[in-house]
Amino acid sequence: MGFKIGLLGLGTVGTGTAKILLDPVQRHPLVKELELYRVGVKSLEKPRSLELPPEIVTTDLEAIVTDPAVDIVVEVIGGLEPARSLILKAIEHGKHVVTANKAAIARFGDEIFTAATKAGVYVLLEAAVGGGIPVIEPLKQSLCSNRINAVMGIVNGTTNYILTRMQNEGADFADVLADAQRLGYAEADPTADVDGLDAADKIAILASLAFGGRIKLSEVHCEGIRQISAADIAYAEKLGFVIKLIAIAKRDSQLSSELEQLQVRVHPTLVPKTHPLASVNDVYNAILIEGDPIGQVMFFGPGAGAGPTASAVVSDMLNIAAILKVERGNSKQANGTPLLDPLLACSHQHYCAIAPIAELSTRFYARFLTKDTPGVIGKLGTCFGNHEVSLESVVQTDVRGDVAEIVVVTHDVREGNFRQALAEIQAMDAIASIPSTLRAL
Ligand code: HSE
Repeated sequence: MGFKIGLLGLGTVGTGTAKILLDPVQRHPLVKELELYRVGVKSLEKPRSLELPPEIVTTDLEAIVTDPAVDIVVEVIGGLEPARSLILKAIEHGKHVVTANKAAIARFGDEIFTAATKAGVYVLLEAAVGGGIPVIEPLKQSLCSNRINAVMGIVNGTTNYILTRMQNEGADFADVLADAQRLGYAEADPTADVDGLDAADKIAILASLAFGGRIKLSEVHCEGIRQISAADIAYAEKLGFVIKLIAIAKRDSQLSSELEQLQVRVHPTLVPKTHPLASVNDVYNAILIEGDPIGQVMFFGPGAGAGPTASAVVSDMLNIAAILKVERGNSKQANGTPLLDPLLACSHQHYCAIAPIAELSTRFYARFLTKDTPGVIGKLGTCFGNHEVSLESVVQTDVRGDVAEIVVVTHDVREGNFRQALAEIQAMDAIASIPSTLRAL
């Protein structure tokens, strides 16, 4: 018996989500048990990239959230209404909810989680912050032994793309924004992104999880990037900084623990070039978490897009399905063995086939000490060529006495071929030694 999914929304994220459910091969075995049971859309007429059985698609979203057969409602329509009402109605009808909706959670989280606790259902939201980057579940689970002291990050891809281009091109904000809109990297109405509001929603959610309390969005200080000029970026660069839109939530360490307050803010920030967040460029997101005793951990990846966001949505669905499976299974296990959570327990018995290292295809670096005589580089090249090892670069780096140092980097080659060529090269009169060979990415 599988788990019936009611998917609300078939836009970018909804389509990405449906695609994963319809193509479970080589994913966790539990994916096969997620049944795309109903899909709620605004219009049946709209042309879509994904063909679904017509009987599962409906414009009656309310019928999905109240359908007794539905186990998990997945809200990926975005926006505040009707998303909020549909989530609340689903909860009221005993459905677990998965949502990617940071705006609704940041504003109505209080109402939604109070209702969920009362109804005994889960509301999971990994996709709401950082797209495909796992950060909510690590905060809730993997890092839960830590006292979290700070969460900071680049959580808006649009502004990071604009600032990266301003940095690289020396261009002004308005010009890059216009181009980003033309290329589809920025929305026609860019307000939520460029004024920092989207990042504020996300840091409010992260702060709530990191510090274990509700956060009023109105108390999150928020500045966007409209006022950043090419001149600011150039001066920052000279001083050893890059300018990033950083969302920060941290404990205010000036205060004693009884009076402890948080700082929760979003603003353009000069980031030292050596800081881990400085090299997060383009549309990428990254979240740096400081915990005691773990220290700093950084989560980096694609913060938006169909595939990454759907990855997070389906993972939340699997977390809920695993819990439901244990609940259902334990009342039925005939052999008396307790059923374990399929995501936490080992779910396989077979051995995977591992390719022999000789079959590896990779780039190599090799350093040779040779006689400084004519034709050595030619001999190396010929020998590699005979073994189908193509060279990307060859440099003679040094000559000491009559010994020359030659370094080669190959293209991707079969390891077995590279080793055979090396064995032949090693035996050449002109070769004194091969002090090192390393694989390169
Ligand atoms: N508009 C967001 C961004 C993506 O630019 O990062 C969705 O959260």
